[in-house]
Amino acid sequence: MPFSSIIDDLAARGWSLQSSFLSSDVTHQLAAECRRRYAEGALAPAGVGRGEEQAVHEGIRGDHIHWLEEGQAAVSDGYLSVMDELRQTLNRELFLGLEEFECHFALYPPGAFYQTHLDRFRDDDSRCITAVLYLNPDWQPNNGGELRMHLPDGKTLDIPPLDGHLLMFLSGEFPHEVMITQAERLSLTGWFRRRPVDVLAL
Ligand code: OGA
Ligand code: MN
Repeated sequence: MPFSSIIDDLAARGWSLQSSFLSSDVTHQLAAECRRRYAEGALAPAGVGRGEEQAVHEGIRGDHIHWLEEGQAAVSDGYLSVMDELRQTLNRELFLGLEEFECHFALYPPGAFYQTHLDRFRDDDSRCITAVLYLNPDWQPNNGGELRMHLPDGKTLDIPPLDGHLLMFLSGEFPHEVMITQAERLSLTGWFRRRPVDVLAL
Protein backbone atom coordinates (compact mmCIF):
# COMPACT_ATOMS: atom_id res chain seq x y z
CA MET A 1 0.00 0.00 0.00
CA PRO A 2 1.36 3.47 -0.74
CA PHE A 3 1.98 5.48 2.46
CA SER A 4 2.26 2.27 4.52
CA SER A 5 5.51 3.19 6.28
CA ILE A 6 4.04 6.59 7.26
CA ILE A 7 1.04 4.83 8.81
CA ASP A 8 3.27 2.31 10.64
CA ASP A 9 5.60 5.02 12.01
CA LEU A 10 2.76 7.28 13.19
CA ALA A 11 1.02 4.38 14.90
CA ALA A 12 4.22 3.17 16.60
CA ARG A 13 5.88 6.43 17.73
CA GLY A 14 3.87 9.45 16.56
CA TRP A 15 6.28 10.70 13.92
CA SER A 16 7.68 9.66 10.54
CA LEU A 17 10.47 10.81 8.23
CA GLN A 18 10.34 9.80 4.55
CA SER A 19 13.38 10.51 2.41
CA SER A 20 11.80 10.29 -1.02
CA PHE A 21 8.13 11.10 -0.72
CA LEU A 22 7.88 12.73 -4.17
CA SER A 23 10.12 12.58 -7.24
CA SER A 24 12.94 15.11 -7.22
CA ASP A 25 11.40 16.58 -10.35
CA VAL A 26 8.19 17.46 -8.50
CA THR A 27 10.13 18.71 -5.47
CA HIS A 28 12.16 21.02 -7.72
CA GLN A 29 9.01 22.34 -9.38
CA LEU A 30 7.56 23.08 -5.94
CA ALA A 31 10.74 24.95 -4.96
CA ALA A 32 10.56 26.94 -8.20
CA GLU A 33 6.92 27.80 -7.46
CA CYS A 34 7.87 28.98 -3.97
CA ARG A 35 10.67 31.17 -5.37
CA ARG A 36 8.35 32.54 -8.07
CA ARG A 37 5.84 33.62 -5.41
CA TYR A 38 8.64 35.11 -3.28
CA ALA A 39 9.94 37.13 -6.25
CA GLU A 40 6.42 38.43 -6.86
CA GLY A 41 6.26 39.61 -3.26
CA ALA A 42 3.49 37.16 -2.33
CA LEU A 43 5.22 35.73 0.76
CA ALA A 44 4.62 37.72 3.95
CA PRO A 45 6.24 37.57 7.40
CA ALA A 46 4.43 34.84 9.34
CA GLY A 47 2.34 35.77 12.35
CA VAL A 48 2.20 34.14 15.75
CA GLY A 49 -1.13 33.23 17.38
CA ARG A 50 -4.54 33.14 15.85
CA GLY A 51 -7.37 35.46 14.85
CA GLU A 52 -7.28 38.87 16.48
CA GLU A 53 -4.34 37.89 18.67
CA GLN A 54 -2.14 37.26 15.63
CA ALA A 55 0.97 39.41 15.34
CA VAL A 56 4.38 39.28 13.68
CA HIS A 57 7.21 38.60 16.17
CA GLU A 58 10.53 38.14 14.41
CA GLY A 59 12.08 37.15 17.74
CA ILE A 60 9.80 34.09 17.74
CA ARG A 61 9.68 33.17 14.07
CA GLY A 62 11.37 34.78 11.08
CA ASP A 63 9.91 32.93 8.12
CA HIS A 64 7.85 34.32 5.24
CA ILE A 65 4.81 32.33 4.14
CA HIS A 66 2.18 31.97 1.43
CA TRP A 67 -0.84 29.65 1.71
CA LEU A 68 -1.71 27.15 -1.02
CA GLU A 69 -5.16 27.30 -2.50
CA GLU A 70 -6.57 25.24 -5.31
CA GLY A 71 -6.13 26.76 -8.77
CA GLN A 72 -2.88 28.68 -8.14
CA ALA A 73 -0.54 26.39 -10.13
CA ALA A 74 -0.58 22.85 -11.50
CA VAL A 75 2.29 21.74 -9.27
CA SER A 76 0.71 23.02 -6.05
CA ASP A 77 -2.65 21.48 -7.06
CA GLY A 78 -0.80 18.18 -7.56
CA TYR A 79 0.63 18.40 -4.04
CA LEU A 80 -2.80 19.13 -2.55
CA SER A 81 -4.26 16.08 -4.27
CA VAL A 82 -1.46 13.74 -3.06
CA MET A 83 -1.99 15.04 0.47
CA ASP A 84 -5.73 14.48 0.16
CA GLU A 85 -5.06 10.85 -0.76
CA LEU A 86 -2.80 10.62 2.27
CA ARG A 87 -5.55 12.15 4.43
CA GLN A 88 -8.01 9.51 3.28
CA THR A 89 -5.49 6.74 3.94
CA LEU A 90 -4.81 8.07 7.46
CA ASN A 91 -8.54 8.06 8.14
CA ARG A 92 -9.01 4.55 6.79
CA GLU A 93 -6.03 3.03 8.62
CA LEU A 94 -5.89 5.05 11.84
CA PHE A 95 -9.52 6.26 12.17
CA LEU A 96 -8.40 9.85 12.67
CA GLY A 97 -11.43 11.64 11.21
CA LEU A 98 -9.25 14.20 9.41
CA GLU A 99 -11.40 16.61 7.44
CA GLU A 100 -8.92 18.81 5.63
CA PHE A 101 -5.31 19.65 4.84
CA GLU A 102 -4.01 23.20 4.92
CA CYS A 103 -0.46 24.19 3.96
CA HIS A 104 1.82 27.08 3.12
CA PHE A 105 5.19 27.64 1.51
CA ALA A 106 7.70 28.91 4.04
CA LEU A 107 10.97 30.68 3.29
CA TYR A 108 13.46 31.32 6.08
CA PRO A 109 16.04 33.96 5.04
CA PRO A 110 19.57 33.54 6.45
CA GLY A 111 19.48 34.35 10.18
CA ALA A 112 15.86 33.25 10.64
CA PHE A 113 14.62 30.64 13.12
CA TYR A 114 11.40 29.58 14.87
CA GLN A 115 11.44 29.16 18.64
CA THR A 116 10.12 26.03 20.38
CA HIS A 117 6.37 25.64 19.99
CA LEU A 118 3.52 23.18 19.55
CA ASP A 119 1.45 23.32 16.35
CA ARG A 120 -1.74 23.84 18.29
CA PHE A 121 -3.33 27.03 19.44
CA ARG A 122 -4.49 27.38 23.03
CA ASP A 123 -8.07 27.87 21.86
CA ASP A 124 -8.11 25.51 18.87
CA ASP A 125 -7.06 21.87 18.90
CA SER A 126 -8.07 21.12 15.30
CA ARG A 127 -4.52 20.59 13.97
CA CYS A 128 -3.86 16.90 14.34
CA ILE A 129 -0.87 15.93 12.18
CA THR A 130 1.90 18.20 10.90
CA ALA A 131 3.53 17.44 7.52
CA VAL A 132 6.63 19.37 6.38
CA LEU A 133 8.18 18.80 2.96
CA TYR A 134 11.65 20.29 2.48
CA LEU A 135 12.66 21.94 -0.80
CA ASN A 136 16.42 22.51 -0.56
CA PRO A 137 18.44 20.70 -3.27
CA ASP A 138 21.92 21.92 -2.26
CA TRP A 139 21.62 21.81 1.51
CA GLN A 140 25.00 21.72 3.31
CA PRO A 141 25.55 20.20 6.78
CA ASN A 142 26.93 23.49 8.16
CA ASN A 143 23.88 25.50 7.08
CA GLY A 144 22.07 24.88 10.38
CA GLY A 145 18.30 25.21 9.95
CA GLU A 146 17.55 21.81 11.47
CA LEU A 147 14.07 21.04 12.73
CA ARG A 148 14.73 20.07 16.36
CA MET A 149 12.06 17.76 17.80
CA HIS A 150 11.75 17.38 21.57
CA LEU A 151 10.84 13.76 22.23
CA PRO A 152 8.81 12.49 25.20
CA ASP A 153 11.89 10.82 26.75
CA GLY A 154 13.68 14.19 26.96
CA LYS A 155 15.98 13.51 24.00
CA THR A 156 16.08 15.74 20.94
CA LEU A 157 16.23 14.83 17.31
CA ASP A 158 17.75 17.23 14.72
CA ILE A 159 16.38 16.86 11.21
CA PRO A 160 18.15 18.76 8.42
CA PRO A 161 15.77 20.18 5.79
CA LEU A 162 17.01 17.93 2.98
CA ASP A 163 15.42 18.07 -0.44
CA GLY A 164 12.33 15.90 -0.80
CA HIS A 165 12.27 14.75 2.83
CA LEU A 166 8.82 14.69 4.41
CA LEU A 167 8.53 14.92 8.19
CA MET A 168 5.20 14.15 9.84
CA PHE A 169 4.31 14.19 13.54
CA LEU A 170 1.34 14.47 15.88
CA SER A 171 0.83 18.25 16.12
CA GLY A 172 -0.06 18.34 19.82
CA GLU A 173 2.60 15.93 21.10
CA PHE A 174 6.01 17.15 19.96
CA PRO A 175 7.39 20.58 20.87
CA HIS A 176 9.78 21.58 18.06
CA GLU A 177 11.85 24.48 16.82
CA VAL A 178 13.73 25.56 13.71
CA MET A 179 17.39 26.23 14.47
CA ILE A 180 18.92 29.40 13.05
CA THR A 181 19.63 28.93 9.37
CA GLN A 182 22.71 30.22 7.56
CA ALA A 183 21.22 29.73 4.09
CA GLU A 184 17.83 30.40 2.55
CA ARG A 185 15.60 27.49 3.66
CA LEU A 186 12.44 26.47 1.81
CA SER A 187 9.63 24.18 2.91
CA LEU A 188 6.02 23.36 2.36
CA THR A 189 4.46 23.10 5.81
CA GLY A 190 0.97 21.78 6.42
CA TRP A 191 -1.53 20.34 8.86
CA PHE A 192 -4.19 17.69 8.66
CA ARG A 193 -7.12 19.01 10.66
CA ARG A 194 -10.25 17.69 12.17
CA ARG A 195 -13.24 19.77 13.12
CA PRO A 196 -12.48 21.99 16.12
CA VAL A 197 -14.41 20.85 19.17
CA ASP A 198 -15.85 24.32 19.74
CA VAL A 199 -17.96 24.18 16.56
CA LEU A 200 -19.78 21.14 17.97
CA ALA A 201 -21.63 23.35 20.46
CA LEU A 202 -20.93 21.01 23.38
C1 OGA B 1 5.94 25.49 11.60
C2 OGA B 1 7.17 24.70 11.77
C3 OGA B 1 9.00 23.51 10.81
C4 OGA B 1 9.95 23.50 9.67
O1 OGA B 1 5.82 26.19 10.58
O2 OGA B 1 5.06 25.42 12.49
O3 OGA B 1 7.40 24.22 12.86
O4 OGA B 1 10.84 22.65 9.68
N1 OGA B 1 7.97 24.47 10.72
O5 OGA B 1 9.85 24.35 8.78
MN1 MN C 1 5.59 24.06 14.00
